[in-house]
Amino acid sequence: MVTPDGANRQLTEEFRRIKRPLLENAFGKKNVPPLRNGNLVMVTSAVAGEGKSFCAVNLAMSIVRELDNTVLLVDADVAKPSILDLLGLEGGRGLLDLILDESLEMADVLIKTDVEKLSVLPAGNVRANATELLASGAMHRLLQDMTQRYPDRIIIFDSPPLLITNESRVLATQMGQVVVVVEAGHTTQSAVGEALELIESCDVVNLLLNKSHSLDLASQPYGYGSYGG
Ligand SMILES: Nc1ncnc2c1ncn2[C@@H]1O[C@H](COP(=O)(O)OP(=O)(O)O)[C@@H](O)[C@H]1O
Ligand SMILES: [Mg+2]
Repeated sequence: MVTPDGANRQLTEEFRRIKRPLLENAFGKKNVPPLRNGNLVMVTSAVAGEGKSFCAVNLAMSIVRELDNTVLLVDADVAKPSILDLLGLEGGRGLLDLILDESLEMADVLIKTDVEKLSVLPAGNVRANATELLASGAMHRLLQDMTQRYPDRIIIFDSPPLLITNESRVLATQMGQVVVVVEAGHTTQSAVGEALELIESCDVVNLLLNKSHSLDLASQPYGYGSYGG
């Protein structure tokens, strides 16, 4: 994992490269305005186990490590939540509770971590058909509220796989940018192609090649490229 002290140098460098274009999209750069909702970043993949949660956590850590930006990491893979375990946090209410109970405030369920500027919104109390709630009107309103309330905050969504649930595709259309994690040497080209077709309407889709065994990663652009857009 990327840690605040940057102990894992190779991983820290890889995620530094991965986050750069995402931050430029979110906040704009010289002569290029920011993307609409660019601070909402969805991390997804074609199928399970490709490294969505791993990449979402490392991306969040990488961003808070070096910049003034605050990061909110949302566990939106509500059928298979793992962010709390990965960070060693105790859970309770979270995203699902916020969607279902509009009287609940975001501040009531956010977890402030001991990493400065990093907060976590857990998936919340697990219930049947939880994933369907991601495509609900209440989720849409929640996203709008998040964008307006925290315009200077990067919000990273660890999300369900695209080929497994329809809701992931719906969620993608509400994001400023999408990162599709692809497991090297494992996920077939046709699965990746199918997943990308599902989110064709999204303006900015980035591919992240994960678990690559290339030994010379440091000198390469680490399989990071843009698709479409
Ligand atoms: N770049 C990586 N290097 C080493 N292990 C990884 C990497 N990416 C993912 N993993 C491991 O692969 C497994 C699946 O990753 P995970 O992030 O849980 O996938 P997903 O969230 O997409 O289901 C985990 O055990 C994780 O630690
Ligand atoms: Mg996961």
